[in-house]
Amino acid sequence: MYAVTGATGQLGRLVIAALKEKGLGVQTIALARDPSRSADLGIPTRPFDYDKPETLQPALDGVEKLLLISGSEVGKRMPQHKAVIDAAVRAGVKHIVYTSLLHADTSEIALAPEHRETEDALKASGLDYTFLRNSWYTENYTGNLGAALANGAIVGSAGEGRLNTANRGDLAQAAANVLTSDGHAGKTYELGNDEAYTLAELAAEVSRQSGKAVVYNNLPKDEYAKILEGIGLPAPLADLLADSDAKAARGALADQSGALGELLGRPTQTLQQAVAEALG
Ligand SMILES: NC(=O)c1ccc[n+]([C@@H]2O[C@H](COP(=O)([O-])OP(=O)(O)OC[C@H]3O[C@@H](n4cnc5c(N)ncnc54)[C@H](OP(=O)(O)O)[C@@H]3O)[C@@H](O)[C@H]2O)c1
Repeated sequence: MYAVTGATGQLGRLVIAALKEKGLGVQTIALARDPSRSADLGIPTRPFDYDKPETLQPALDGVEKLLLISGSEVGKRMPQHKAVIDAAVRAGVKHIVYTSLLHADTSEIALAPEHRETEDALKASGLDYTFLRNSWYTENYTGNLGAALANGAIVGSAGEGRLNTANRGDLAQAAANVLTSDGHAGKTYELGNDEAYTLAELAAEVSRQSGKAVVYNNLPKDEYAKILEGIGLPAPLADLLADSDAKAARGALADQSGALGELLGRPTQTLQQAVAEALG
């Protein structure tokens, strides 16, 4: 039996769709902190809140392989993930597949330490583990192209940094493939797209496909953070994202491993496809 945490989140929903596509819906349990939001998944759901350790072990009863999708509350994730790992050990789960961050062991990105510590806790747990070190989602850059078209510019702090981002769909398919095939215990996969791009190349592709002039404006990270705050992001998140972009300028989101395409058994989404999808 497989189980997927964060089942009502964007990545979790896509993983469950991929498992159902494989005909494995009957062997899959959705784990969600609010099961009332999971009716449309079409598979059984068990309540699962990382902040309520008492809910965790019973929900994992009978589960052999668990996909632990990292929580979304930055700063709280280490105790949350540790509670899940401890409950999995007690429940007799054999293997945890964890969604980590690209190059989590060496990354300068401020989000990396929580992923690094979770990886260490998994290594110490005695369970089989696999680390899916997901890159930045392509959607982080393509999700707001309406504003880019309106302003004639994409803004960021990633400079000329090469970005091997990956779309959620490809990362979810890779997670479902790893969960349901053998030979992944003890493995770490750096998961970014086959082809890297710069934000200037993204702007050029948006121009090409939309027929409207869009340029890339590179900004100092503090200025970029202010813009993100201006469109409604809380200040700490705005700082975190601007800082990540600045680290990407130095290569933090570049990866040439090709592991994502190998796990998919096909090429990853191209920049052209990502922009076409985003422009609808
Ligand atoms: N690679 C990237 O660019 C990137 C960007 C953003 C986030 N991430 C990481 O990747 C994860 C998945 O991405 P996503 O796009 O699917 O994010 P998302 O849509 O925000 O989903 C996060 C999921 O985590 C669940 N969750 C949060 N706190 C929880 C708790 N205390 N107990 C149980 N479940 C909890 C949420 O539950 P609810 O459905 O109840 O809200 C949701 O299902 C994120 O959580 C974050 O760790 C990566």
